[in-house]
Amino acid sequence: MSKERDTGLTQDEPLIFEQGGRGRRGYSLPRWDVEEVEADDLVPPDLLRKDLEGFPELSEVDVVRHFTRLSQWNYGVDSGLYPLGSCTMKYNPKVNEEIARMRGFANIHPYHPQDLSQGILRLMYQLEGLLAEITGMDYVTLQPAAGAHGELTGMMMIKACLHARGEKRRKVLVPDTAHGTNCSTSTIASYQMVGIRSNERGVIGPEQVAEQTDEEVAAIMVTNPNTLGLFEENLSEIAEIVHRRGGFVYCDGANLNALMGIVKLGDLGVDVVHINLHKTFSTPHGGGGPGAGPVAIKKELAPFLPIPVIEKIGETYRLNDERPQSVGKMRAFYGNFGVLLRAYAYILSMGAEGLRMASEMAVLNANYLMRRLKDYYYLPYDRPCMHECVFTDRFQEKHHVSTLDIAKRLIDHGFHPPTIYFPLVVKGALMMEPTETESKESLDRFIETLIKIAKEAEEKPDLLRQAPQKVKVRRLDEVLAARKPKLKWNANK
Ligand SMILES: Cc1ncc(COP(=O)(O)O)c(C=O)c1O
Repeated sequence: MSKERDTGLTQDEPLIFEQGGRGRRGYSLPRWDVEEVEADDLVPPDLLRKDLEGFPELSEVDVVRHFTRLSQWNYGVDSGLYPLGSCTMKYNPKVNEEIARMRGFANIHPYHPQDLSQGILRLMYQLEGLLAEITGMDYVTLQPAAGAHGELTGMMMIKACLHARGEKRRKVLVPDTAHGTNCSTSTIASYQMVGIRSNERGVIGPEQVAEQTDEEVAAIMVTNPNTLGLFEENLSEIAEIVHRRGGFVYCDGANLNALMGIVKLGDLGVDVVHINLHKTFSTPHGGGGPGAGPVAIKKELAPFLPIPVIEKIGETYRLNDERPQSVGKMRAFYGNFGVLLRAYAYILSMGAEGLRMASEMAVLNANYLMRRLKDYYYLPYDRPCMHECVFTDRFQEKHHVSTLDIAKRLIDHGFHPPTIYFPLVVKGALMMEPTETESKESLDRFIETLIKIAKEAEEKPDLLRQAPQKVKVRRLDEVLAARKPKLKWNANK
């Protein structure tokens, strides 16, 4: 195999059903020393599976190798640079995994009596305090299982607070640079979403907000830094405008990895902010799996926090369910403890200085990438960025090469593509987030590959249009895959 092909992406692994041979076994057991009984004599017939036509018969080695090879097809943060903007895949420190596996943590059960769970409750209480400190807010709930779930929790608290004030407001303002989930959340929370256009600097102007804000506005949902990777520099002024009319300021703080230790969102007039632990605090992230999107709030919203709330009375921690104005339970028990624990370990191991440095490095890396690539890829907002930068395919258009082609060609070079066609506010977006953990060498390799691809677009555009070529499956028919997904193996097809 040539060096370039040796990426682990190119192995041609058959399905497990296509492997093995008749009579092959993955185990060997000693002879029975009890009388053999037919399964039919013990198990009711409707529970007995009879027909396993085509079921594979494999040895232990066959099975181990099959799944190991499949695992090598995956590209993850532990394989190489993962430049997905917005849905960032972050470094997962191995020390966090060690800590999460400690018996006291791993074996804890949510039905453990509170007296015997004091350490766990203390840890969660302290994590709430740390997140409140980092965001400049008063209280935190750890319950939501993801960023979008945190958004819904936050909007429900705003709605409950307005209800308690006897106000029935209908609208939520959402800028075009907000994350897509902000639009969905405002709709799911039964508000009418009112769009706000960003200005020529790629941020929201106070004038646009003032024009749209009236007594019907329940809240504005601002993503900061926004999805163009730019800091919403007018946020304090915008907050004042919205507050003057009695509305709330919701900040999507999923991009907190650009701000930690530098800016406290609470100081900018934010009333509610959610945090994506997988984006900022290095917890594992994948496939909609167990995550955490804690929500930090200002005092006024405290009565509406989800139950149970962790309280400290003297030196004792307890879970309080007796909160009549609460929005209720947002998640079974207290949230995804294993994820919260990893974030806690990360914050303590980094310390205040370390967290600030992580943000500074994330911003530095993104700006380095942006500066070095801006002669090769069109930069719609040519100004310093935060933790991610957004290019478009405008320079490549004349060669009939699109963002999709560039992304697919990166796969041939052994890189995971960046986020594409998002944010929607620019056409043909290529959104890159290098994160704070990439070394200069790895950034340079990525940059040089992208420069090479920009040259290929001019000289050999077909190479890009036909990419990826060095993988098992090339371009998929995504419409067919979505409309007619094949989710089950069938012996006859
Ligand atoms: C800015 C922003 N807001 C919200 C979300 C939604 O978070 P989640 O995917 O955890 O629901 C994301 C995605 O990571 C995001 O980048």
